[in-house]
Amino acid sequence: MVAGLPAAPAVWCSGLRKRYRRRTAVDDVSFTVGRGEVVGLLGPNGAGKTTVIKILLGLVRPDAGDVLLLGRPARDPQARARVGYLPELFRYQLWLTAAETLALHARLAGVAVPAGERRECLATVGLADRAGDRVGGFSKGMQQRLGLAVALVARPELVVLDEPTSALDPIGRADVRDLLLALKSRQVTVLLNSHLIGEVERVCDRVVILDKGKVAASGTLAELLGQRELRLRLDAVSPEAKERLAAAGRVTRSGDTFTVALPADQDVAAVPDLVADLVALGVRVHAVEPGRISLEERLLDILRAEPGGDRR
Ligand SMILES: Nc1ncnc2c1ncn2[C@@H]1O[C@H](COP(=O)(O)OP(=O)(O)OP(=O)(O)O)[C@@H](O)[C@H]1O
Ligand SMILES: [Mg+2]
Repeated sequence: MVAGLPAAPAVWCSGLRKRYRRRTAVDDVSFTVGRGEVVGLLGPNGAGKTTVIKILLGLVRPDAGDVLLLGRPARDPQARARVGYLPELFRYQLWLTAAETLALHARLAGVAVPAGERRECLATVGLADRAGDRVGGFSKGMQQRLGLAVALVARPELVVLDEPTSALDPIGRADVRDLLLALKSRQVTVLLNSHLIGEVERVCDRVVILDKGKVAASGTLAELLGQRELRLRLDAVSPEAKERLAAAGRVTRSGDTFTVALPADQDVAAVPDLVADLVALGVRVHAVEPGRISLEERLLDILRAEPGGDRR
């Protein structure tokens, strides 16, 4: 009977609350992460991101609320066996080598991972040539890379990464981005938390923004970023061409620059079709530039909006 049902979301949580003495860290947080989705958890320092992640993984007991991980209660060790986790602050056994650390964590997860696959996992995080070196001699960024390998080694269905790139150099960040895209293409679900908004924008399907323990906004990037703009530098614009521009979206003009506000749900052919039609109408097209407000700008807008108000 159960076979025909759609798979439960990778993460489902509802009404999470956590107080530390008089300080409320998490205040009625609910969200879902679908299977195969890459979701970013964003928000300022102290917003409650790490606390939410720890509640999801059963590392912090919430005062209220429910969590299902891969369709099972978070307390169930079977649910956690399919989850890879990179903590925000961690230290592995300094006397173990990188290869031994991975072998240990695969064993702890109860998954038989052949040595070749473990080596490959170290290679994906750029530590292939340091496999036999002790963790105690690793730099901060190398430890973070090892942490990523630990999160990935037991072939998880859900990967939770608390600031996976905070210690990485620019190449390391780009590598992690590729790694996340590779996970996405393999339908592995990722929940990640990062202050590098540009990165989140590039890899995440959806974001959940936390502020002072509450969900301040959530949605797909298209929903949060709304309309896209298209800036065109044109001359010889006839009245018919102006009509064609207006049909694409609301137009504003400054000199020879026309800015068209494209609807969020436009199809991929909208821009090339518009340009082709303009050329056919005799317009000289000097430049076509996409414009979009960045996630960073949107995030700042949301966080600066009326403090304490309902901003959902
Ligand atoms: N173990 C703890 N004891 C007391 N207070 C805590 C504890 N853990 C977190 N807090 C408090 O809960 C709030 C949320 O902290 P949390 O670590 O979840 O924030 P965050 O969003 O992950 O921040 P950052 O971006 O700095 O990592 C903060 O006010 C913090 O001081
Ligand atoms: Mg944190």
